[in-house]
Order: sequence, then C-alpha cells, then structure tokens
Amino acid sequence: MTPDTNHREQASLSEATLARFAREVAKYPSNGPGRQSAVMACLAIVQQEEGFISEGREREIAAYLGMAPIAVHEVTTFYNMYNQRPVGKFKLNVCTNLPCQLRDGAAALAHLEKKLGIQMGETTPDGMFTLQQSECLGACADSPVMLVNDRTMCSFMSSDKLDQLIDGLRNSTPKGAQ
Ligand code: FES
Repeated sequence: MTPDTNHREQASLSEATLARFAREVAKYPSNGPGRQSAVMACLAIVQQEEGFISEGREREIAAYLGMAPIAVHEVTTFYNMYNQRPVGKFKLNVCTNLPCQLRDGAAALAHLEKKLGIQMGETTPDGMFTLQQSECLGACADSPVMLVNDRTMCSFMSSDKLDQLIDGLRNSTPKGAQ
C-alpha cells in the first residue's frame, strides 16, 4: 500500500459525497434492505471521485448503507469496473475466458504485455496503462476482445490493431500531461 493510499483512507467521505450517496439511496425503498440497493452507485461515486475504492472506503460505504463490510467487498471484487487500487490513465481489460483463448486471446494478451513491458495486473511506470484480465465481455464471436476504461469495446484485436490502439492512446495524451 502506498503512502498516498494511506493518506486517502484517513480522510472521511466529504459532505458532498455523502449528499450524492443520499440521492442514490432515495431511489430505493426505505424499508428493509432497500438502501443497500444503492451499493453499486455509491461505489461508482467513490471511484469517480478518487480513481479507486480502498478497503477503508468500502467500510465507510458499508456503515452508511447498513451492510457488512464483506458484503460491499464482494461487490467490489465481483465487477471488473471497480478498481481496488490506483490504475493508469488507460485501463485495458483483455478477455481471457475460454472462447477468446481459443481464438488468439492469449496471443493478444502476450502481445500487449510485450509492447507495454508489463505483466497482467501491472501499470506502466509512466502511469499510462494498466493491463488486466477480464471475464467474458459478451462478444465472443469478435475475439480477441478487450475493453478500454470500462466503456470502449475493441473487437478482433490482431497484433496490428493492438499496436494502433496503444500508439493512438499514447499520442492522445500530450507529453508531460500523464
Ligand atoms: S469469452 Fe471473450 S468475449 Fe466471451
């Protein structure tokens, strides 16, 4: 854990963040476990504001929603879109499920590891790219498949297309602006 991570965990959630939580909770029934339905939205808010969700933030969300901390942690760890640690400017999720592996998914992953000089789960030293594996993205026929920053689906990722993607993302960021 980095000193920065420790620092972030020490500060409590802001009033503005809690107000955003309250707006999400208000969308669900107030009786029983209704407010717990806002857990995904609260996690997304924290990630949007801080870039990742620390265990400390999970505990705060759990207390706010009246849930066990482990129940919040189960949600955070189930979905790839939630970052459990700081990630690079571009998060690359490569599908490594069986259908993709049968159609050059492993080759795509190996190509990215070599091009970026990092292993799966790592971030480049310049903070530009984080490489992660992903469960099925629902586009098996388009394999190899990957997702950029949880939103942009990239299909049929040959080595040439991967090179174009990485070079394009690098060039989209002015030098010194990472
Ligand atoms: S197995 Fe890769 S998208 Fe389905």
